[in-house]
Amino acid sequence: MPTTILVGAQWGDEGKGKIIDVLMDRHDVVVRYAGGNNAGHTVKIGEEKFVLHLIPSGILRPGKVCVIGNGVVVDPIALVTELDGLLKQGIAVNRGLGAKLLLSETAHMVMPYHRLLDEHREIQKGKRKIGTTKRGIGPAYGDKAARTGLRVIDLLKPERFAEKLRMRIRENNEILRTFGVMPLSCAKILKEYLAAGKRLRSFIANTVVYLHEAIKAGKNVLFEGAQGTFLDIDHGTYPYVTSSNTTAGGACTGSGMPPNKVDKVVGVLKAYTTRVGGGPLPTENQMLGDLLHGLGREFGATTGRPRRIGWFDAVATRYAAMVNGIDDLAVTNLDGLDTLEHIRVCVAYKADGKTHEVLPNDPDVLARCKPVYEECEGWNTDLSAAKTWDDLPKKARNYLRKIAALTGAKLGMASVGPRREQTICVR
Ligand code: GDP
Ligand code: IMO
Ligand code: MG
Repeated sequence: MPTTILVGAQWGDEGKGKIIDVLMDRHDVVVRYAGGNNAGHTVKIGEEKFVLHLIPSGILRPGKVCVIGNGVVVDPIALVTELDGLLKQGIAVNRGLGAKLLLSETAHMVMPYHRLLDEHREIQKGKRKIGTTKRGIGPAYGDKAARTGLRVIDLLKPERFAEKLRMRIRENNEILRTFGVMPLSCAKILKEYLAAGKRLRSFIANTVVYLHEAIKAGKNVLFEGAQGTFLDIDHGTYPYVTSSNTTAGGACTGSGMPPNKVDKVVGVLKAYTTRVGGGPLPTENQMLGDLLHGLGREFGATTGRPRRIGWFDAVATRYAAMVNGIDDLAVTNLDGLDTLEHIRVCVAYKADGKTHEVLPNDPDVLARCKPVYEECEGWNTDLSAAKTWDDLPKKARNYLRKIAALTGAKLGMASVGPRREQTICVR
């Protein structure tokens, strides 16, 4: 597994953090390439739970190098808070011994006005709101595309940063005024950001050069996708998406790794479907939602919001396999279906008398789509102690085979609980 890209094959929260942590025993370097602290990647080690937002999920494994790539939008204050939180949980992040962190100098920064704009644009959208995480992600990527962004490298030159910031604050205060928001103080933000810059200084590097050298030296590199395929700005259910390329192609642009260095793409998906925030979710199902929420499961790792829940949607995962070029599937949360007699799988959509085997791009058509289901027999057994393929009941194996076949990719892993050891490698 020299160079592996791991992506979410649904609407985010597929269990990427857990699978990254498992795969890190075979990789030396892990790279986040997109998104920001809108992500929440959970890793459970024993009874201890870690939720990573900006720092790659490999940070919990000693001796690994963690890279925050150029494609990530970084809120430096949030990053410092995350580092402090890890320290409280006993994980010291330094450049010397133990885990290492590198932060791309060309990554764009999330600024306080981005967060405010995110919040107030959502309010203005009313019932058409996206349901963002309010972390300022959309406006930060907006500034990047408009070439008005501030980058991590700017923190290294306080005078230049102060000058750029003054201009940005002036313009954004005008915009914020139209939303009725109090103007931001440039001096306060300057002080806070420069203080964060000081804390982060030793991590800031040319990560593109680092990665090329690591690959040349034969290191195994894992690219940690954030969000999921259908939250991709180009390939997702626009406008109910995030603002980055979450799909496999984003791993190249968001890190500087050339496409011909990619050896494998792993797609992570749940044995059912979840989504947090607005937008279409064709297989949404109240009974399944009540069941999983009743077990205390499926609440957002970043915002705590209950996730919307539906049956497995093969129309979606097939599309994800195509767009990402998924080689291997890691199916998580199989144990979430443990108590069901019958399990539904969506194999196509129907709208306006037409059958759709591909996700329609027209949001109005997609909103009218009704799933066409096939039914599978449930295994009605607690899977949480299963360690091997043979430990799984036949009906669970059949279900996994079916969703892999419908998705059109090879089954690589199945996960039956949040902890590392609750992972089954499928030969
Ligand atoms: P990510 O954003 O893709 O990393 O996923 P999240 O961490 O936001 O959400 C996935 C949730 O499922 C977390 O609470 C994980 O601890 C949990 N999880 C992952 N795999 C499994 C599994 O196989 N079974 C159970 N019960 N929980 C899992
Ligand atoms: P991980 O990496 C699930 C969703 C938000 C909202 C939309 C836009 O943990 O899988 P944004 O704040 O990005 O502008 O919100 O995208 N969203 C996620 N949903 N998992 C995530 O990350 C998400 N990151 C953003 O809920 O619908
Ligand atoms: Mg998450």
